This record gives sequence, C-alpha cells and structure tokens, in this order.
Amino acid sequence: MGEKMISIKELDQQAQQIVRQAGQNAFEKMGEDYQVDIKTNYTDLVTTIDRENEQLINNQLRKIDPDSQILSEEGFGDRQITNMQGHVWIVDPIDGTMNFVKQHNNFAVMLALYVDGSPVLGYILDVINGRLYHGRRGDGVYVNDKKINQPANLGLRESLLAMNRTLTLSGNPSLKEIAQEAIGLRMYGSAGIEMIDVITGQLGAYISNLKPWDLAAGRMLAEELGLVVKSIDGRSINVLSSNLVLVATRQVSRDIRQIIN
Ligand code: IPD
Ligand code: CA
Ligand code: CA
Ligand code: CA
Repeated sequence: MGEKMISIKELDQQAQQIVRQAGQNAFEKMGEDYQVDIKTNYTDLVTTIDRENEQLINNQLRKIDPDSQILSEEGFGDRQITNMQGHVWIVDPIDGTMNFVKQHNNFAVMLALYVDGSPVLGYILDVINGRLYHGRRGDGVYVNDKKINQPANLGLRESLLAMNRTLTLSGNPSLKEIAQEAIGLRMYGSAGIEMIDVITGQLGAYISNLKPWDLAAGRMLAEELGLVVKSIDGRSINVLSSNLVLVATRQVSRDIRQIIN
C-alpha cells in the first residue's frame, strides 16, 4: 500500500499558511534594500523578493504535494508543463511587482491548484490590507473567515471597468467603445487586486492580457461566485497560454459581446 494521499481540504489549510508566509516575507522586506532586475524591458521588473517568495512557496508545495507539477513565473517551477493532468499548482510570487517597488501597496501573492485542468483551490493575498481571498470548489469564496456573496449582476453602464495599460493604449476601437460605455475606467497594475475588486463587486469587469499565473487564482474565485471568465470574444480559456481575458458579471459580459459582434 502507498502512502495516504493528502485531501484537498488539508491542502487548502496548508496552502493558506504558505501564501500568508510569502505575504509576510514580502511585507517585512519591502522597505529594505533588495535587488531589482529588468526582465524583457524597463517596465518589466523582477526583484530578489519575487524570487525568494517563489522558492519559499514552491519548496513547501513540493513537501505537501510531492507528485504535483508547479507552474510558476520566475523559473523555480517545473520547466516544461505541457498537460494539466493530475495536480498542477500555479504560482505568482508577487503580482504587481512594479507596485511593490514603487508604491509599497497594491500587490498580491497568488496561488491556485488545478486538478485535471479544473480550478479547485484559489488564493489571492492583498498583502498590505492583510486580506486573504480564498476558495475551494463547491465551498464558496472567503475573505479571511468571512464568506463573500455573489456580486450584483450589473451591466456595463452601471459598472466600473479596469483594463491594463497595454490594452488601454492599444487604440483598439472595440476596447475604446467598451471603455466609453462603462461608468468609469480604472487601472491598478495588479491583476490580483483587480480581480479581487470584480469578485467583491467594486468593479463590473476587468480586461487584460494575462499569463497563466496572473489568471489562475482569480479565475477559480470568480467562477466559484458565478462570474464570467472567458476570452474577450467569448471562447473558453487555455490555462497554459496567454489570453486576452474578461472577468465580469454575466450582464457586463453580454454587453461587451454586443459591442464586439
Ligand atoms: C503583472 C500585473 C499587471 C498586468 C501584467 C502582469 P506581475 O503581473 O498583474 O497588472 O497588467 O500583465 O504581468 O508581472 O507584476 O506579476
Ligand atoms: Ca512579472
Ligand atoms: Ca502577475
Ligand atoms: Ca509576478
């Protein structure tokens, strides 16, 4: 007989601790000297704290779930993930690195577990406010210990909309029309914080070009609350690639589809 497998509920308890530890690490080191490196260009940064956090998270995940695969942003995960079979943990050690460096605010630690391609556990820690948004499939979404209600199903004209900088500056006529139709436009620079605001009903929608680690946790939490998480033209999302994603109320998603079609 093999060893008893750890249950999803137990993984959930442990993953919450791991995310909080990484958040604590970022919080403590935020005011200290750390190294900032450029990745692809001067607007794309990584710090030694991103790397530390990713190693801290991945090392602990490997202890509690040794047979899983880990897909993570800064290179300490598994090199090649070509399928989503079994347990796949998806890690964003600091989401909103630019905000971490420049603002000491509006950044998050994000983690998700997908089982055979379906989102099962999701965590977004708003580090500065000490709020951990977490959910287990079928069990609802919580902020710390408090259950979150499904947000009101508002339409685009009654909703604030967030978009990332690249899309806002793209000049795409459909995106411009969508932005003009919304009651207001916001840009926070952290996919995690922006998805928290859709989940809690402060935003009606978030549109962004997202990599797997930017989206995995927010998608789990948003879908658990009955929100739409789709590619902007209504197609479903491939977790392993970059997607132009819409996270929105059902009504905003319908309103946007009308503008695009
Ligand atoms: C970025 C942030 C940003 C979004 C980018 C992401 P990172 O994540 O979420 O808001 O516009 O697409 O890459 O690099 O700070 O983890
Ligand atoms: Ca990054
Ligand atoms: Ca990110
Ligand atoms: Ca990151």
